[in-house]
Amino acid sequence: MASETFQLSRREMLVTSATTAAVSAIPSEPADAAPAVKAVPTYKLAITVNGKPRALTLDPRTTLLDALREHLHLTGTKKGCDHGQCGACTVIVNGERINACLSLAVQHDGDAVTTIEGLGTPERLHPMQAAFVKHDGYQCGYCTPGQICSAVSVLEEIKRGIPSHAQANLLAAPQPTGAEMRERMSGNICRCGAYSNIAEAMADVAGASA
Ligand code: FES
Ligand code: FES
Repeated sequence: MASETFQLSRREMLVTSATTAAVSAIPSEPADAAPAVKAVPTYKLAITVNGKPRALTLDPRTTLLDALREHLHLTGTKKGCDHGQCGACTVIVNGERINACLSLAVQHDGDAVTTIEGLGTPERLHPMQAAFVKHDGYQCGYCTPGQICSAVSVLEEIKRGIPSHAQANLLAAPQPTGAEMRERMSGNICRCGAYSNIAEAMADVAGASA
């Protein structure tokens, strides 16, 4: 009985699918009619990226991540999940790390953005970049720009006394302990699992132990 029901449902589904396909194939307007194109409203913004003023005219729905990668061609910042879950897109805005995929570019009119390209150069690496190389803090490297931007910000947060969940006493000055740095880096996922080496690199820069 159950299989008869299934067969009937399946036949019905096939008939419905065929009907839908046939209806979709009927052109709704003459073949030579130009498709209607709606003008997309744009927004002008001025941001400073890696110390340089940049002017952009963007669809207001453009994320900061897409503005950096697709409009300014700064592809060091990576798109992993595009949903705020992996940290690959981490950049530093006005001294704070953020997920660039979760932020619209128009929200950053007038802001100063630092990407991995702005931290150092191949000839003159930022100390955190050099430490990642020294401690093998990566494998495929896809998460690495976000890890490094986050790591730089984490040490700044600790210096500024910003508390974290790793502290027993939220009023005490945070210290760059292994637990503290691991907690603060928990939003940056590494599919290759280079976590212990990343922790060693951060500890090296912080002058602490991982
Ligand atoms: S790409 Fe932004 S958090 Fe994953
Ligand atoms: S180094 Fe491959 S995802 Fe982190």
